[in-house]
Amino acid sequence: MTTRVVRHIAELTTNDPSLGDHSVMGRLLDAALVHDDGHVLWVGRDDEAPDADEVLDAANGAVIPGFVDSHTHLVFAGERSDEFEARMAGQHYDGGGIRRTVEATRAASTDELRATTAARAAELRANGVTTVEIKSAYELTTDGEVRLLDLAGEFSDEVTFLGAHVVPEEFGRDRDGYVDLVGGAMMDACAPRARWADVFCDRGAFSVDESRAILLRARDAGLELRLHGNQLGDTGGVALAVELDAASVDHCTFVRDDDVLQLAASSTVATLLPGADFSTRSAYPSARRLLDAGVVVALATDCNPGTSYVTNMGFVIALAVREMGMTFDEALWAATRGGATALRRGDVGRLAVGARADFVVLDAPRAAHLAYRPGGAVVQRTERALR
Ligand code: NIG
Ligand code: FE
Repeated sequence: MTTRVVRHIAELTTNDPSLGDHSVMGRLLDAALVHDDGHVLWVGRDDEAPDADEVLDAANGAVIPGFVDSHTHLVFAGERSDEFEARMAGQHYDGGGIRRTVEATRAASTDELRATTAARAAELRANGVTTVEIKSAYELTTDGEVRLLDLAGEFSDEVTFLGAHVVPEEFGRDRDGYVDLVGGAMMDACAPRARWADVFCDRGAFSVDESRAILLRARDAGLELRLHGNQLGDTGGVALAVELDAASVDHCTFVRDDDVLQLAASSTVATLLPGADFSTRSAYPSARRLLDAGVVVALATDCNPGTSYVTNMGFVIALAVREMGMTFDEALWAATRGGATALRRGDVGRLAVGARADFVVLDAPRAAHLAYRPGGAVVQRTERALR
């Protein structure tokens, strides 16, 4: 087992309150970090750094935990830039384009899907992501969803079955038929291939009752729960997520005061996806309102071809800081520990001793450059533990 010491870290964010400045960010200046192939072994002052087999010189850059992107739809074919252009010209988003991606994805070969997913995963990683959740959702047949989940599993352990994205074309008005399929044969085939189940519970997608029926079946099949809620309206997704103790409810663009109170009293994370609000020209949710109430907030890319073709967590952080009332530190925490909390993972999103040695070296003396230089080449190097 090789050990390595990372020296000359101008600013190290650990997200471990027992370290450094003892804030929630656990921040140390002029720091060093030692790790082996898997885990962090030591964190402290650079002038006290122990020897190790190898040295990585951070060259007075900042180091942060790798981003935990807890919401992506990475496996898809085709693109929908025409819809983006139309929305920017004033057209409203209602979830309608999903079926176009379903058609393109069904027509794509497995090799093609593998290659395009690999390219997107590499892009996320180059931008600092070390843990990524990947959903199915663009085939909506039993065999197709199985194919997408198997592909997702080649890139991540955080695989999510989202057969309930929309009712596919061939079901016409037979919504119940599709809900029965998703909760029945499709669930049976997909559950062994996923950790999570998700439902798009929103206007134009699935109702609260349909979503509850599917998620309860998913739980019986051994899956853990998360859901898309309150993206397009005040549609009850947040309350359902809390009712079912889902790990996360994602989007939360339109929430009522009682949703906020319920979330604050629960262990469900509110995952905000400002890339989707940006690309649909929606209002942004007020992260401030959620944080002030005591809700745990995560940030993720929602990378998908329809509403958020975003592979850059730095951009997501910049939007959260500029448009959603988050401080930079709150946004950085939400994109690292927040994402980990949304995936119920204790081993990632922080750089405490014993955590996974997943980290990012920045070409900047302070992590705040991620928002201060939006779109800039701030990430210099992404390191992911081998085991
Ligand atoms: O998270 N909201 C539902 N699903 C995606 C959009 C998918 C699409 O338009 O292709 C989302 O925004
Ligand atoms: Fe999504």
